Amino acid sequence: MNYFEETKRLETNTAIDGVYRTKHHLMPPAGWMNDPNGLCQYRGIYHVFFQYTPGAASGDGFRGWGHYTSEDLLHFKYEGLAVAPDTAYDRDGAYSGSALAEENKMYLYYTGNVKETGDYDYIYSGRGANVILLESEDGFRMGSKKLLLANPDYPKDYSCHVRDPKVWKEGDVYYMVLGGRTIQDQGRVLVYGSGNRTDWRFLSEITTKTPFGYMWECPDLFSLDGKPFLSVSPQGVEAEPYRFQNVYQSGYFTLKGNGPEDYRPDTFTEWDMGFDFYAPQTFVDSKGRRILYGWAGIPDAEYTNRTIEQGWQHCLTLPRVITQKEGRLYQNPVEELKKLRGVPLQAETGKRIKTAGSYELCISKNKPDMEEQAADSSSIGPIKLTICDGLVFSYDGKREALLQFTTGIGDGRTIRRALLSGLHHIRMYLDVSVAEIFLNGGEMVFTTRLYPENYTITIEAQQTVNRIWEL
Ligand code: FRU
Repeated sequence: MNYFEETKRLETNTAIDGVYRTKHHLMPPAGWMNDPNGLCQYRGIYHVFFQYTPGAASGDGFRGWGHYTSEDLLHFKYEGLAVAPDTAYDRDGAYSGSALAEENKMYLYYTGNVKETGDYDYIYSGRGANVILLESEDGFRMGSKKLLLANPDYPKDYSCHVRDPKVWKEGDVYYMVLGGRTIQDQGRVLVYGSGNRTDWRFLSEITTKTPFGYMWECPDLFSLDGKPFLSVSPQGVEAEPYRFQNVYQSGYFTLKGNGPEDYRPDTFTEWDMGFDFYAPQTFVDSKGRRILYGWAGIPDAEYTNRTIEQGWQHCLTLPRVITQKEGRLYQNPVEELKKLRGVPLQAETGKRIKTAGSYELCISKNKPDMEEQAADSSSIGPIKLTICDGLVFSYDGKREALLQFTTGIGDGRTIRRALLSGLHHIRMYLDVSVAEIFLNGGEMVFTTRLYPENYTITIEAQQTVNRIWEL
């Protein structure tokens, strides 16, 4: 099959119903989207690749990489299928991976998924997990695929689940992290090193002293202000009343130790406390910002998305700038998004307000320039936002933040709880069928899909200053 032709055919023949189509969040042109892949800025252009199954909104079909580009992170152009599962090394999926953008070339590293035919469990046997390299001079036309690593190259005590290479350069050395599951079902990260981008040597493993889940997907290792962090998406972590409430987790470890060969994980913090967030990836742009995109979805969740009936499923988060304060990472929508602010809407506390289908909302105690992060540190006090008559975000003024669906507009989503020791700022982006709620200048975020029947908001609080802009 020519996957490129087939993708075009599927994209023209799949009529996506417009009702829940997002305006500013990247969604698949047809079918299914999951992880952001290959994020980079190359020759001035932002590239956002993503896991893409154009043939089925359920995700059950051939999987490759779709491709969006942008010059400003506001307007995106869909570029078609970029990587197809069309060799013996990736025939059952061109899975997740990353980009290394150098001066004259873009290097894409990804996992070629292969499922042998036979009676296998595909965890401990029957699956090939290949690291493949693709090179591109212009960021669009790809060269031929090079197989870099295969199962025999991973340490002996690993299952067949080893994937999602993230590559970066430090000094003269290239590093690669891979997510993995051992035979004993412990999640770990494998660290490889290379002097030339193609020959890789196993260096070390990063894991917790006591097992923290059976599999770690989509690793990303980076430093901010000289402090190292490891982002991973662990599977198999037990739920707690205020943490780990989704089927799979996604968060970051602070790291101890000297350099990639010596890092040991310390504390783990979840990236997002909402229902729909997984497999994020970061990159650094030409302004030096570390920008994160997450998948605003999650695999194997017990809740659903009614967009399946309309030919598509899932979207990405907005691009978020990651900053560091005392070892904690903060996430804020990129500055560029402020340019989307259109007509200001009335936003009186206590009234049920009709809104646009896409809007930005900011709330703080009293500062007019409150949209700037942490502009006003006065406590908001107890607050309740009723979004579209069916989703409630509340804070008790002391410690507990809740995101709760009170009607069926969450398609099975119920409640998420988080501990927060004060609230002085809320910034929410609601974009038709997805909401991202940023608290305290990015200290905590809740992301969720929702399928409203109307667009309204009611803000119940003591005195606050609220702003709403149509987007
Ligand atoms: C995470 C993930 C990755 C894998 C990809 C396949 O959502 O399971 O580990 O590479 O999705 O689409």
